[in-house]
Amino acid sequence: MRETGYMATQGNVNWGFIGAGGLATTATAQSMHNAKNATLYAAAARDKNRAESLSPKIAYDSYEKLIQDPQVDAVYISLNNDAHLPWIIKSLDAGKHVLCEKPMVMNAGDTITAYEHAQNKGLLLVEAVWMLWHPRTQRLQELVSSNAIGSPTNYLGTFTFDSVTPGNYRLDPTKGGGALYDVGIYPLHALVALLTEDTNYTVTTAHSEKLDKQVDMTMKAQFNFDNPQCKGSGAFVASFAMHPSQRFVLKGTEGEITLPGDQAFTSYNEESKLTITTKGKTSTEKFSAVDPYQSMFENMSDRISGNGGWLPNPWQSVQVAKIVDQAFKSAEASGELP
Ligand SMILES: NC(=O)c1ccc[n+]([C@@H]2O[C@H](COP(=O)([O-])OP(=O)(O)OC[C@H]3O[C@@H](n4cnc5c(N)ncnc54)[C@H](OP(=O)(O)O)[C@@H]3O)[C@@H](O)[C@H]2O)c1
Repeated sequence: MRETGYMATQGNVNWGFIGAGGLATTATAQSMHNAKNATLYAAAARDKNRAESLSPKIAYDSYEKLIQDPQVDAVYISLNNDAHLPWIIKSLDAGKHVLCEKPMVMNAGDTITAYEHAQNKGLLLVEAVWMLWHPRTQRLQELVSSNAIGSPTNYLGTFTFDSVTPGNYRLDPTKGGGALYDVGIYPLHALVALLTEDTNYTVTTAHSEKLDKQVDMTMKAQFNFDNPQCKGSGAFVASFAMHPSQRFVLKGTEGEITLPGDQAFTSYNEESKLTITTKGKTSTEKFSAVDPYQSMFENMSDRISGNGGWLPNPWQSVQVAKIVDQAFKSAEASGELP
């Protein structure tokens, strides 16, 4: 059984939560309270009572008041997707480091703009793709970069479920709704993290099934990828209208890796597994239960404090956003939208 190798330092960073929605309430506030080097110092929500329910030291009824609090070192944004970019920019302008929920922003151009703004301010900006901090995801990277399955040739990633609450922003095109933004980015981030920065991705076909001609309830796409070390093809499915399932299968010239079970991208506080087949032999690695949100907060806090800390590269978010842009464009062009 593999354990997480990461140990947070005992330094401290004061965090401000912008938004107290479902994710903050059910998971991330507690993960931050559990973090060893971070304090959930402030929380802001349109309804102050909801901000208070996260048990911060101070609650605000406005996001603006929170970013003007000089005690706040860094903010964590978990708003509806279209609100990410404006609050990233305002928070950076207020001198705060930013950890923003996925999808960080809505397209590749805005992703580049946001990172350039952070760089100009000398502050950190990180997309909160929490699975990237899971030890199993890190092990995947180790295996692929050491050529354990040879050169990657084929990829399949799916993330589907069927229970979006009516009225939720996920069904609203003006708030960044839709399955590709919500869950499709997970299988894409999983692959992009494994291939090098110079990889080209070309979406060859994409189809979306829309609700009332608005948000994509299902998005299915195929793409090619190539870089000097490998050349292959991939497919992903994202859906709000299919049986809950998460699949990760990466084939290479000399083997295959799968993440068994239905939590390929969202393993949280439970044991998880990775299966690798090479030379006709299959072996399974097991990973202890971890909270990747806590690890994400601890790593970013360590980085802010100058104590190391692992963070993903900005180019990963740019690559994923470029694939998302292509998928929307290709689906639109396919003319098969209902
Ligand atoms: N990493 C993960 O595992 C994970 C899981 C779920 C979601 N997410 C991401 O986290 C973000 C929030 O998701 P969620 O599930 O927490 O969403 P949610 O429960 O629907 O909460 C929506 C959030 O948006 C805010 N908001 C501000 N203006 C709003 C408006 N006009 N209408 C609706 N909401 C408004 C709410 O702020 P107030 O608190 O001020 O009301 C609330 O914090 C999304 O970007 C999503 O992709 C990530």
